[in-house]
Amino acid sequence: MREKTKVIFTFVITMLEEIEKIEKETASHNFADAAALEQFRLTYLSSKGRIQVLMDAFKNLPNEEKKAISIPLNALKSRLEEVFRVYKKKFSTTTSSDQTYDTTLPVNTLQFGSSHPVKIVENALCDIFYSLGFDMADGPEIEDDRHNFGALNFADDHPARDMQDTFFIGEYILRTHTSSVQIREMEKRKPPIRLVMPGRVYRNEAISTRSNCFFHQIEGLYIDKDVSFADLKQTLYYFVQQFFGEGTQIRLRSSYFPFTEPSAEMDIWAGIETEENRRLTKGTGWLEVLGCGMVNPNVLRACNIDPEVYQGYAFGMGIDRIAMLKYSISDIRDLFHNDIRLLSQFRGL
Ligand code: DAH
Repeated sequence: MREKTKVIFTFVITMLEEIEKIEKETASHNFADAAALEQFRLTYLSSKGRIQVLMDAFKNLPNEEKKAISIPLNALKSRLEEVFRVYKKKFSTTTSSDQTYDTTLPVNTLQFGSSHPVKIVENALCDIFYSLGFDMADGPEIEDDRHNFGALNFADDHPARDMQDTFFIGEYILRTHTSSVQIREMEKRKPPIRLVMPGRVYRNEAISTRSNCFFHQIEGLYIDKDVSFADLKQTLYYFVQQFFGEGTQIRLRSSYFPFTEPSAEMDIWAGIETEENRRLTKGTGWLEVLGCGMVNPNVLRACNIDPEVYQGYAFGMGIDRIAMLKYSISDIRDLFHNDIRLLSQFRGL
């Protein structure tokens, strides 16, 4: 008998403590919105709320103990219900159906974002190569010497390795071109390999209207048996017709890159009439678009591909200048100010 009294006694104390706890928690209330008020209702006043739990416990108490609990519990319950009523009224007046609407006000139209012009051009370029069976790959922007230079057949004293041209991060560098991804993919895959590899590259250059310390490239690579320079030329010709329009002329000038042999640069005929300040084609009418060539056997060897069995071609082009040309943007830096007045013009593209 004494044991039972003790149990009931501690039970009552626990209930009183809980009442006091809720008193404290709800002493001040300031609901930001209807959702906050609803949270309050769920916590305290709903059929599974903390007041109901107390009520259920209350029912099972002997009469004598009920007296000790009923006054504080009922007072708390009434107060919380009153708080809820007042706030509910407050929130419902602002949304009630008797509110009048001005139907002549302009609608708040949805603001859509846009793709960045560089991304739009990148997608368009990649899509053309995709239609020719090229897959896509990407690689890290922070690179090691081997992938950016060594395996690409750059001599140890090549000027591109100089601090003047390259950003160093300890023993690593910021890749200076997407050609590094060629190496990463050739190390991973077995021929035939047919890939385009878009990405951001970094050069320690003086910043001007035409040069930035970072820009974007797309690298192309095709490795297989019996690949010839004619395949490269025809692929590039097809690409130009698709991107710059049917009938666009191209020319290949011989050039030098350590990772290709022979190497070339490709120009497209942009015309002299379009030349406003002779900046674009330097008055020649020919616009340089990309570098390309047959993959140097040393590069294949560095990636464990036998150059006696496999050949390939590679090309790399800058995306930013093509975007500038396409959208008549005269300063490369304008592409990266993220000015909404420029970006919003590309909505839906
Ligand atoms: N990596 C060269 C650059 O950044 C571009 C390039 C030229 C890439 C010839 C190639 C290539 O794949 O074959 O200037």
